[in-house]
Amino acid sequence: MTKQQLIIDTDCGVDDALALLMALADPNVEILGITCVSGNVALPKVLNNVGRVLDAVGAGPIPIFRGASRPLLMAPYHADEVHGDDGLGDAGFPDTARRPADEPAALAIVRLARAHPGATLVPLGPLTNVALALAIEPDLPRLLGGTVLMGGAFKGTGNSSAAAEFNIYADPEAAALCFDRGLDPTCLDWEVTMATPLLWPVWDRLMAAGPIGGRFVGPMNLSLTERTRGRARPGILMPDPLAMAVVLDPACATSIRAAVAVDTGHSAARGMTTHDRTWHPAPPNATIVTSVDADRFAALVERACALPCLL
Ligand code: BDR
Ligand code: CA
Repeated sequence: MTKQQLIIDTDCGVDDALALLMALADPNVEILGITCVSGNVALPKVLNNVGRVLDAVGAGPIPIFRGASRPLLMAPYHADEVHGDDGLGDAGFPDTARRPADEPAALAIVRLARAHPGATLVPLGPLTNVALALAIEPDLPRLLGGTVLMGGAFKGTGNSSAAAEFNIYADPEAAALCFDRGLDPTCLDWEVTMATPLLWPVWDRLMAAGPIGGRFVGPMNLSLTERTRGRARPGILMPDPLAMAVVLDPACATSIRAAVAVDTGHSAARGMTTHDRTWHPAPPNATIVTSVDADRFAALVERACALPCLL
């Protein structure tokens, strides 16, 4: 059986890390490269965190690429209040000795897509690297087998602003370019994330499923889970792992075609993703995931948590 080939673009915080582990745990997946972008934390921390995830499971030499250290036009925007100062929950994991390749991330995305037609691009952070890759190679969408990204809030319930989700809000110009230039992504958004928490009894079971759960994923999320439990939420939200579930098990998701636009203005709607539901909508340019099967999602997380831990 030929493996599903992935190019993963990440701003590696705690949920990106779990999404990477889900891909690493799938025997039918080959990760061609991991491209890094400023987002949850600054780029040097993102590069370190990707290496730490690979170190934790003793992964082979998967290439890591240095990407954009800031959005296309705006100042860097981070989310360390969610992910910790180091981006992995300040759990004290050792720094990695893995070093990024010399090739810039946007060029690596283009090269890997040309060399491996049909590969799936999985953006889990702000879309800066992907926009740069699209600018370099307008045919990128036709080289790829598809793109599955975490981003957006198609009913207007944001997490970075009232209307905007973090990955889009952090670089709206890059996101607008991606939707406008034919990337045609499948989008797992913040509202589906809110509708699909890992409920506390499930989370506790998953963290006990094996070494990576107990010694890496659990500690990395300790601060976040304590604060979330303190707010009496029913469970923890894991956006990037949900997007990875759509990649690894497409049948776990229901979806619709949609015409999506990104607000790049400087009002309260900056970074908002609109879904045209008028009588005469624009032609579809994206697929929006509308639900994910919670049990199938948890099964993929459980397989990741059962991985061995070398830390
Ligand atoms: C997205 O923003 C980041 O904080 C997460 O890693 C995820 O990609 C959720 O809005
Ligand atoms: Ca992310």
